[in-house]
Amino acid sequence: MSEKTKVAVLVSGGGTNLQALIDKVADGQLDDVEIVRVISSREDAFALTRAEKAGITTAVAREQQEVLKELKASGAEIVVLAGYMRVLSPEIIAEYRDRIINIHPSLIPKYCGKGFYGMRVHKAVIEAGEKESGATVHYVDEGVDTGAIILQEKVPVLDGDTPETLAARVLETEHEILARGLERAVDNLKKGGK
Ligand code: GAR
Repeated sequence: MSEKTKVAVLVSGGGTNLQALIDKVADGQLDDVEIVRVISSREDAFALTRAEKAGITTAVAREQQEVLKELKASGAEIVVLAGYMRVLSPEIIAEYRDRIINIHPSLIPKYCGKGFYGMRVHKAVIEAGEKESGATVHYVDEGVDTGAIILQEKVPVLDGDTPETLAARVLETEHEILARGLERAVDNLKKGGK
C-alpha cells in the first residue's frame, strides 16, 4: 500500500466539512489521506469536538505564527481550509505553496473575496435574485478566494429560499466536492506540481 498523504484541516466553526472528510477517510472513499491535525482559530468551535471524537490531534491557534508552528509539528503535506474564517499569512502560503485548498460556498468569482463568507454569501445571493449558486474548491494564494479553481458545482436557488435553506443545500454539495478536490490536490502533489 502506498504511503498516505498527511493532511491538516483548519477550522473556525461547526465543522460539517471536516466531518465529511473524517467520514470519507473512515469508509475508504479517501483512502490515501490521513488527517493528522485539526487546528481551530476558536476554542469554542464544534469542529474540535468532531476531531476529538475521531481521535485526531487538535490545537487552537489564534495567531498565524502558532498556526505555522502547528502545521510544521503535524508534518502535514496538504492543508485544507474547511470553514476557516481567517486569512492565512503570506509566510504560511509561501511555505505550503500549491498545497493549501479552500472550500467556498459560492460560484467563484461570484460572491467571494473580502466580506463574503459563511451566511453573508447566501444572503447576498438571495438578495441579488440569483437562480443558481454553488460551491468551489480552490487553491489558496495571497489573495482572498483568488487561487486556481480545482472544481465547482452548481446548486439551484429555489423560490422561498432563506439564507439558511440555501446554505444547507450548498453545504451538501460542499461535502462532496471538498473530498474530490482534496483527492485532486493529493494527486497533483504526487505528480510533483499543481
Ligand atoms: C461552509 O459553508 C464553508 O464553505 C464556509 O463556511 C462554512 C463552514 O461550515 N467558508 C467560508 O465562507 C470561507 N470563506 P462548516 O464549519 O460546517 O464546514
